Amino acid sequence: MAVLEIQTNDALILRQEAAPVPEINADLQPFIENMFETMYEAQGIGLAAPQVGVSKRIVVIDIEEHHPEYPRIALINPVITMTIGEELGEEGCLSLPGVRGMVRRAAIVKVEGLLPDGNKIEFDASNLMARVLQHEIDHLNGILFTDLLRPEDQELLEPRPESSEKSGDQE
Ligand code: NI
Repeated sequence: MAVLEIQTNDALILRQEAAPVPEINADLQPFIENMFETMYEAQGIGLAAPQVGVSKRIVVIDIEEHHPEYPRIALINPVITMTIGEELGEEGCLSLPGVRGMVRRAAIVKVEGLLPDGNKIEFDASNLMARVLQHEIDHLNGILFTDLLRPEDQELLEPRPESSEKSGDQE
């Protein structure tokens, strides 16, 4: 396994629409393992393939430590098929070091996609899992969380001392 280089800030690939994965083949599993390893190394909870320089519709998420009801997952060609409600929450991104913001997201989402074994999966997610899914799928469409910030929401953001910069969830 290998830690991949994370694309940051103005990298063009972060602004491109990623291509669907046409077929699940043997190359995919090692790449997905590298995505997980890269995410763990960076202390993140979610990562999308464009963030490591691959413009394909693949995301990995692991919030299991604090939300064991959602085991870690890799999703290929994920699509949000339904949303309910709205929730304001704090976000950061491994591709935007040091930036945090309060983002409005749907409170509950229904997602479908493929697992690395090729099986189809469909599930509902709420709270942090719903937020991370929306954040990562946005990456596949060239959208960064900073695109979604509304100035009036930002006063709710807790100031963070320099030393604890890395303590927030990074996606
Ligand atoms: Ni991100």
